Amino acid sequence: MEENPVESLAGRAFLVTGGGTGIGAATALRLAGLGASVTVVGRRKEPLETVAAEVARRGGDALAHTADVRDPDAVDAAVEAAVDRFGRIDGLVNNAAGNFVAAAEDLSPNGWRAVVDIVLNGTWNCTSAVARRLIDTGRPGSFVNVVATYAWTGHPGTVHSAAAKAGVVTMTRTLAVEWARYGIRLNCIAPGPTETDGAGSALWAAPEDRERVVSSVPLRRFAGAEEIGDLTGFLLSDRAGYVTGAVLTADGGQSLGRQVYGPPIGDGAVARG
Ligand code: HXC
Repeated sequence: MEENPVESLAGRAFLVTGGGTGIGAATALRLAGLGASVTVVGRRKEPLETVAAEVARRGGDALAHTADVRDPDAVDAAVEAAVDRFGRIDGLVNNAAGNFVAAAEDLSPNGWRAVVDIVLNGTWNCTSAVARRLIDTGRPGSFVNVVATYAWTGHPGTVHSAAAKAGVVTMTRTLAVEWARYGIRLNCIAPGPTETDGAGSALWAAPEDRERVVSSVPLRRFAGAEEIGDLTGFLLSDRAGYVTGAVLTADGGQSLGRQVYGPPIGDGAVARG
């Protein structure tokens, strides 16, 4: 008996950028677990091959393909390779990101450009490459773009990433309307702090930083990367067939803020009557 037939991705093929580590790797494994073929794309071959091997070990089918999402020709080649291997493409998870913490006044033009190029231009390069193929072949599709809640709250020290992620949210909403006529759905997922071994954890590498981050989350923990992958699988599936242009926040309540109006009650505080 199939456990959850509606959420199945059986027979479909997706591309996951930044698929070698962290949320991307967990997402690739989840999509494969739902029956999809997966092409994992990233700059470094080794982690991609590790993920592809793990998918195969679990009985799935994955292709590891190296490409920098900043290079439109390399992205086109990745999509081509995915279609050659699996005979189709049904959508994309834009997970590749670049980030580092820097005071805005210290950020060099190249530092700004590197992050905006990966996050905003990279998302566009991949989205347009996959969507053009869907539109040309008259097939529907679904996309999930991994953003962050600071896309709308902003966040000191990450002006490059926050601005780029805000651009991705608006790109998603625009295309959700523009490409609805092709049966293409696009949504964002906005994870809060997520447990990974990858570059994201560099933002809270020191124990005191980690503690500060956890204490800002009402649920008092990091997300598991597999929790984010699970939600992405849902958004890509037909079960979310009426959801487009949405942002699914999975941040343990962190972005709802910590306004303080009185004595602490629970996580925050309430105004005194
Ligand atoms: C200041 C820095 C810097 C740092 C790089 N730069 N790191 N400036 N502090 N820590 C500057 C460099 O000096 C250079 O500018 C410019 O940025 C480009 O750096 P390169 O190393 O040459 O670029 P590149 O090799 O393309 O690397 C891109 C990168 C890198 C973004 C800088 O960190 C990267 O590739 N990261 C990939 C993985 C990653 O970061 N993932 C994090 C995702 S987590 P100059 O002027 O010197 O030439 C995420 C979500 C977090 O985004 C959400 C939390 C809730």
